[in-house]
Amino acid sequence: MSEAKSGLNTPFDQSTHFERKRLHLGVCGSIACYKAADLLRAWTGMGIHVSATLTPGARRFVTPLLFESLGALPVYEDMFSPGQDVFSHLEPGQHAEAMVVAPASADALFRLAHGAASDMLAAQALAFDGPLIIAPAMNPRMWSNPATQANIDILRQRGARVVTPACGGTACGEQGEGRLAPLHDIFLAALRALAPQDMAGKRVMVTLGPTREAWDGVRFWSNPSTGLMGAALAVCAWLRGAEATVVSGPGVRVRLPREIARVDVVSARDMFEAASGLWPNMDMGMFTAAVADFSPQPFGPHKFKKIDAPDGLTVAFTPNPDILRTLAHGRKPGQKVLGFAAETAPDMKALLPLAHAKLQGKKADVLAANRINSTDSGFGTPTNAMAVVDAAGHEEIWPTQSKADVAWELCSWLLRS
Ligand code: CTP
Repeated sequence: MSEAKSGLNTPFDQSTHFERKRLHLGVCGSIACYKAADLLRAWTGMGIHVSATLTPGARRFVTPLLFESLGALPVYEDMFSPGQDVFSHLEPGQHAEAMVVAPASADALFRLAHGAASDMLAAQALAFDGPLIIAPAMNPRMWSNPATQANIDILRQRGARVVTPACGGTACGEQGEGRLAPLHDIFLAALRALAPQDMAGKRVMVTLGPTREAWDGVRFWSNPSTGLMGAALAVCAWLRGAEATVVSGPGVRVRLPREIARVDVVSARDMFEAASGLWPNMDMGMFTAAVADFSPQPFGPHKFKKIDAPDGLTVAFTPNPDILRTLAHGRKPGQKVLGFAAETAPDMKALLPLAHAKLQGKKADVLAANRINSTDSGFGTPTNAMAVVDAAGHEEIWPTQSKADVAWELCSWLLRS
């Protein structure tokens, strides 16, 4: 999808809310260590200050110059490298807000678990008391070995967040669990460690994407929604500590962190049933889906043949339930509701009365309207320009910004509404 700056296929690499945050990246000797360069690019591209340590094993595969060229500052090597500050093993502990070890080798897991301090990365980890994220990568038998698993258990018990390896073919030609986790999972785990946890304890449901209403065996009625705005909201809520569940229409290709629960549906009625089942246990509902208001009366499971069409074929439609309206009207005290409005309007100001009308009709707490007839807003664009109103009568017009930034502002608004 064109929205991702880094190639990680996550809306969050366009967020401005992590600028000037400080991260330390440890890179160990593993074939996967070239992938750490992509992580570094994604973080520095967002204005995050990244320092790095390459272990001797890592330096066999990649050079410090690569990491320096991609913006890591400083790049540490050995404990007693000439010209290095005598206290450089303490520096990440003084400056970084989170430490990520990716890829983490079996040897590094052992050293971190047992408090070794004789190499630069282990000493820096020992002197670091902030959030530690570990993304192991190794041969599947090394990973499943009880010795490695015991080290992982120790690190988890101490509060480290382990981004577990993926399953599949490894570079050594074997199959199993051991490949470095998908980069977007590691990328987002670090952002979560850097984000304020002001949504901790909240359960958030997000509807997103289009719905698809079948007519015959091959044809359907739908719209061009990509689900990106909803994905940005779900990821934002999760980064800020919430437990997020998405109810996603078909064809949504944005990758979500593994911790976000996902219910896939096809039609408006499926989405209504799934969302209705989840809603009683939620604290917040964010309704971004472009739900088809009408479904064609089905022709049947077979393909309609044009030879059978009378002159001027007409298709009748029946209305679908309004998910937002139904769930907002039937909500329990304390449940918060964010609605959206996709409108065609001549300018941003003209969105405001439409937004107020939809907010009242649907009974939302906050309603965000965008102009789908604008090139920088609406279906499939990486950005949105919004007119936002709330039930207390506040209204604001926001300039064009990334959907990640829109999501951030909307979560903040819903929290204080
Ligand atoms: N929505 C919904 N269920 C529907 C229709 C809309 O939950 N059947 C939600 C959308 O997710 C969005 C809001 O209602 O949060 C407004 O959707 P929008 O398409 O802008 O408006 P509609 O209610 O469909 O009305 P209209 O198309 O006439 O503008």
